[in-house]
Amino acid sequence: MMGLVHVILAVLSLLTVGQSAPVTSCESLTKQVEIIGRNQLLGKWMYIGESTTIAGFKLLTKALVETSWARISAADESDAINVFQSQKMLGRCFTATTKMTLGNNTLSMVHPMHVSEVLLSTGCPDCLVLQTNFTFGGSTYKGLQFMRFCPDESNLQETETTDLTTDISSMNAEDVKLFDRFLSSSDGIQLLIKIITTGLTGLKEN
Ligand SMILES: *[C@@H]1O[C@H](CO)[C@@H](O)[C@H](O)[C@H]1NC(C)=O
Ligand SMILES: *[C@@H]1O[C@H](CO)[C@@H](O)[C@H](O)[C@H]1NC(C)=O
Repeated sequence: MMGLVHVILAVLSLLTVGQSAPVTSCESLTKQVEIIGRNQLLGKWMYIGESTTIAGFKLLTKALVETSWARISAADESDAINVFQSQKMLGRCFTATTKMTLGNNTLSMVHPMHVSEVLLSTGCPDCLVLQTNFTFGGSTYKGLQFMRFCPDESNLQETETTDLTTDISSMNAEDVKLFDRFLSSSDGIQLLIKIITTGLTGLKEN
């Protein structure tokens, strides 16, 4: 049971789940901009809005996610970044660190799922807007993440935290396929919410 819960949480964290707040002035968010080196991406970012083509995703994030932020730092390789993500779900923090490669104005990741992201123009100097394609389990989904620079330190220390990085690195194609099957129906989404809610309640009681 915990294995399944961890797989689900790990995939959720890869989908960079934020609160599904409505993004205003979408008209200006349609133009791709060049990523001039990785420096413009570095820093700490709050996910403040997200929209995806995954049916039921809004329901999923509304039921589970309180806050979500990422700290992007330079990786050892000159063309890569480390993305440390923290999501507060049902009163608990889940973190994960993944690496993305920058090339051809695109950020990409291949394991455990194919992710590619481009930067869109925004009128806000402290914001990042990313358009993302996720491919896993035979499906391709699109997402739009709206992030804003956040100078405050997080309250990560005060909250019980589970790191999912090893769950992500040991995840296989079957695991992500399973997650994709859940996403394919509203019953699946409801079941997903139930599994996570029950799983996390179990964690608290231990
Ligand atoms: C960038 O694009 C070129 C030409 O399409 C391709 O050969 C190269 O592999 C790409 N680089 C990356 C990092 O995707
Ligand atoms: C996502 O896929 C579409 C084709 O479906 C493509 O036009 C777009 O450039 C891709 N975006 C990224 C960020 O890879």
